[in-house]
Amino acid sequence: MNKIFVDACLGKETPYTPVWMMRQAGRYLPEYMAVRAEAGNFLNLCHNPEKACEVTLQPMDIVGVDAAILFSDILVIPDEMGMDLSFVKGEGPKFSDPISSQEDLDKLIGGKEASDKLIYVYDTIKLIREQLADDKALIGFAGSPWTLATYMIEGQGTKTYNLCKKMMYSNPELLHNILAKVTEIVKLYMERQIESGIDVVQIFDSWATAIEPSKYDEFSWKYMIEISDYLKSKYPNIPIILFPKGVPAFLDKVYGNFDVFGVDWSTPMELAKEKLGDKYVLQGNMEPCRLYSKEATKECVESLANTMKDGRHIFNLGHGILPDVPVENAKYFVKLCQEVSKREV
Ligand code: CP3
Repeated sequence: MNKIFVDACLGKETPYTPVWMMRQAGRYLPEYMAVRAEAGNFLNLCHNPEKACEVTLQPMDIVGVDAAILFSDILVIPDEMGMDLSFVKGEGPKFSDPISSQEDLDKLIGGKEASDKLIYVYDTIKLIREQLADDKALIGFAGSPWTLATYMIEGQGTKTYNLCKKMMYSNPELLHNILAKVTEIVKLYMERQIESGIDVVQIFDSWATAIEPSKYDEFSWKYMIEISDYLKSKYPNIPIILFPKGVPAFLDKVYGNFDVFGVDWSTPMELAKEKLGDKYVLQGNMEPCRLYSKEATKECVESLANTMKDGRHIFNLGHGILPDVPVENAKYFVKLCQEVSKREV
């Protein structure tokens, strides 16, 4: 059966422009908070296929989006490499032993052994695929090697990235070794996700914005392209979405064999269309805080629909939805996107 979301990713004409929201399965939904409370905490929820499946499907029913995204987290990879992830309330993710040397890296599990440990993710995907309607797509995902490396080197979220940037400029070889090891796992991990039933792959490079434009290809983009080349050689029909956050200066240099370019909210959609619209389908990019106001939402959705009236577009936010957004406003956004983009096919 045709999936409108998959068709749109491949640049085919669809009856309307499909919509989903990054971080759509999460804390703004009271139903999510209830399941998370049952699981005890966020990581338990990621490790529990029945419950992870349940929260993956919630935004389909409650908000009406056109695609589901697997409920998990990008940080399960370093966790299974042996880095001991925890989430400290109010402070976000923490790793107890960040990487600062080649010895630290050598201690970590790599390759197939690491991807095999993520079995609970593959089990979650199989359960979701059984319960998701045939005409709805399931998006699988991973963090980009660079974004994962930032957490593995800093040990937590950071505003300055000083430890990873110190490594970038003073010990680039070690940083490349970390990126290569993570790239290998991400390739195998995405392959297993595809074999388990996902329809589309998205790679999140949330911390692309931390790298200066002249270094972005070397330390991030080329590894993302290595992953997409690998997947395209094996699964040419599975669309790939790359989402590098905050890299408007890199738009002129974007290259590679993938399908959809995720546009973040700091990049004007007109600019992305001019630079990349012929080559890639564009996804995005409403500033997520517009969801606090229906008027602000309407203004942006109408403007995006007008800019992208020729199609080759997927509606989304320009980054994740925030926990205190009213559910009603999220529903309003989704419905409006679907209505304003209706066309005769
Ligand atoms: O999009 C979805 O709904 C699917 C699930 C998903 C989560 N995280 C669930 C989550 C996805 C795709 C992610 C990706 C992710 N995780 C990224 C890339 C996307 C982005 O937003 O930039 C990053 C950088 C992470 C790492 C991460 N996970 C951080 C920094 C945090 C804590 C900060 C925060 O947002 O609270 C998480 C926790 C997390 N991941 C939550 C959820 C629903 C909140 C945990 C909770 O329920 O308490």
